[in-house]
Amino acid sequence: MGKLSAQDYMAREDRFGAHNYHPLPVVLERGEGVFVWDVEGKKYYDFLAAYSAVNQGHCHPKIVATLTEQAQKLALTSRAYYNNVLGEWEEYMTKLFGYDKMLPMNSGAEADETALKLIRKWAYKVKGVPKNEAKIVVCNGNFHGRTITIISMSSDPDAYNHYGPYTPGFVNIPYNDLAALEEAFQDKNVAGFLVEPIQAEAGVYIPEDGFLRKAWELCKKYNVLFAADEVQTGFGRTGKFLACDYEDVRPDLLILGKAASGGMYPVSCVLADDEIMLTIKPGEHGSTYGGNPIAARVSMAAIDVLLNEKLTENSMVMGEYFRSEMRTVKSEMIEIVRGKGLLNAIAIKSIKGKTAWDVCLAMKENGILAKPTHEHIIRFTPPLVISREQMTDAIGLIKKTFLEFGF
Ligand SMILES: Cc1ncc(COP(=O)(O)O)c(C=O)c1O
Repeated sequence: MGKLSAQDYMAREDRFGAHNYHPLPVVLERGEGVFVWDVEGKKYYDFLAAYSAVNQGHCHPKIVATLTEQAQKLALTSRAYYNNVLGEWEEYMTKLFGYDKMLPMNSGAEADETALKLIRKWAYKVKGVPKNEAKIVVCNGNFHGRTITIISMSSDPDAYNHYGPYTPGFVNIPYNDLAALEEAFQDKNVAGFLVEPIQAEAGVYIPEDGFLRKAWELCKKYNVLFAADEVQTGFGRTGKFLACDYEDVRPDLLILGKAASGGMYPVSCVLADDEIMLTIKPGEHGSTYGGNPIAARVSMAAIDVLLNEKLTENSMVMGEYFRSEMRTVKSEMIEIVRGKGLLNAIAIKSIKGKTAWDVCLAMKENGILAKPTHEHIIRFTPPLVISREQMTDAIGLIKKTFLEFGF
């Protein structure tokens, strides 16, 4: 059989795969650092970085070496046995983030589910909420994944429509609204507040300065657990190691995923102290793959890369550079440029029928890959390894794309 064309690959996915995504029409076969190459050999800057999983850059050699080495030794034991790597990773993570314990899972959604279960367990075992009455406050515009329980918290019809009946026990309030939060806390059965420090999927919505800190203080005042979903904002993406670090907030439950493995393996976890974590006893929660030796080794290697290469610091500097340059672009299509570190978004005003999707298609032609979220917002989240020279080049290509539209 001859070499398949890009069209062939796309047609095959379309024919045999579920249609739950709408990818950009590009077929990738290789990645290195900030770059990916398509099947025709064309090179692109990856300005999505797998929704911030690939903070360390594609196929980082140190992470690849760790993965292949461990894969040849021991891949999966399940938690029916101990393995000789999990404890090392747990010690590494708890010391790095300053918690008593870690609970490993695989996807971000599973880590969020784990946090929800921990909050409920704590509600009944510690706080004294009557059986099955616990409530968790969440924010409109949230994105925590795709399970039935998680979409039960969602305010996005695309996420929840036709998947009912929904999991009860959630109270939705507007994001960035402390008055609504305090009002919700008047209910004594509220046990937790689950929040993204920046709502990334919703379109990079940044709450007002002080919101996280004050929300955290309200949680303390009302004996409510503060759970931070840092699946997308964590690991340097926003210019701090955690986005909560901007306001010196230490969440009661810290939820991590994505860049925990540098895009090399599905790895997620929840960190918390004993009072919360030890409410779950053997046999009451788990996952076959969670905490496997490959995940543990890969995660330590991936986080070492972030720290050793000072990627958080680079994210801060490159993010500021990106936003300041994009704010100089003379295009009526650019409504607003916002972000923190390398978690950035440009809201697009559609002109003469040209939308954010058209901008992404045009950028693709010019060698930049990015994707709209919610129709009119484009996220710009390259791997944190991007150098100044590469950023300058990429900014030039993005500017050129906007100018080519001619309005
Ligand atoms: C904040 C946040 N939480 C959870 C998730 C879900 O992660 P996963 O797709 O690994 O289940 C995402 C994914 O984009 C996310 O951005």
